[in-house]
Amino acid sequence: MADNYLEKRYEQTLGSQQPKVKRVGVTVEQLLKRNRSCRGYNTAYKVPRETLRELVRMTRYTPSACNQQVLRYRLVTHEEAPLVLKEIKLGAALPELHLPLPDTQPEAFIVVCCDKPESKLVNMDLGIVLQTMLLRATEMGLNGLIIGAFNRESLRLALNISSTPIAVLAVGKGIENIQLVDIRQDDDHKYYRRDGIHYVPKVVLDDLIIE
Ligand SMILES: Cc1cc2nc3c(=O)[nH]c(=O)nc-3n(C[C@H](O)[C@H](O)[C@H](O)COP(=O)(O)O)c2cc1C
Repeated sequence: MADNYLEKRYEQTLGSQQPKVKRVGVTVEQLLKRNRSCRGYNTAYKVPRETLRELVRMTRYTPSACNQQVLRYRLVTHEEAPLVLKEIKLGAALPELHLPLPDTQPEAFIVVCCDKPESKLVNMDLGIVLQTMLLRATEMGLNGLIIGAFNRESLRLALNISSTPIAVLAVGKGIENIQLVDIRQDDDHKYYRRDGIHYVPKVVLDDLIIE
């Protein structure tokens, strides 16, 4: 479906009643499609600390359960990257590849921390801020990966932080060719690689909607 499908449909349906809005930049749909989990990066590109700060800045505009805003962010640039790299696991569905491949590791991270007990609401906030930071990174021409597979206590000690790390976001200039594939709800959901392309299955719309 063309990215500007909705815009065109509104125009066809509502015609001149609609004020003319000049589109600037990319649509949410384009950003979402570009925002793929990336496990291979150009290590020659060093993500500046200022870029990581900018991603965190975006979280100020996200909703938060009871507006508690309990999440905090530890920025990690390439100098400290080895401390994070030894704690995280990438690509559990492709264990034979031992990702990241040599010299393609991510070298900038935002470690999301919380010093309140984890709860359903904190985890909802967590998902929202992670996706928000990824979308901003995508808009800036960068790529990223949410990482839930890591040892919290080891990472906490390695980075010398008092609160609990509950998620890690990797950020960098991706070098992977990633494509989405439509699947039905009962098909295999596992991502896979073929001829240098990383395929990500996504359930079709009709199977997502409960009739
Ligand atoms: C909460 C969460 C935790 C994740 N943890 C990991 C992880 O530890 N390691 C990893 O390689 N990918 C991780 N991912 C990335 C998923 O594997 C990825 O989102 C999924 O394969 C779909 O690919 P896509 O993001 O390109 O749509 C995580 C994603 C989410 C949302």
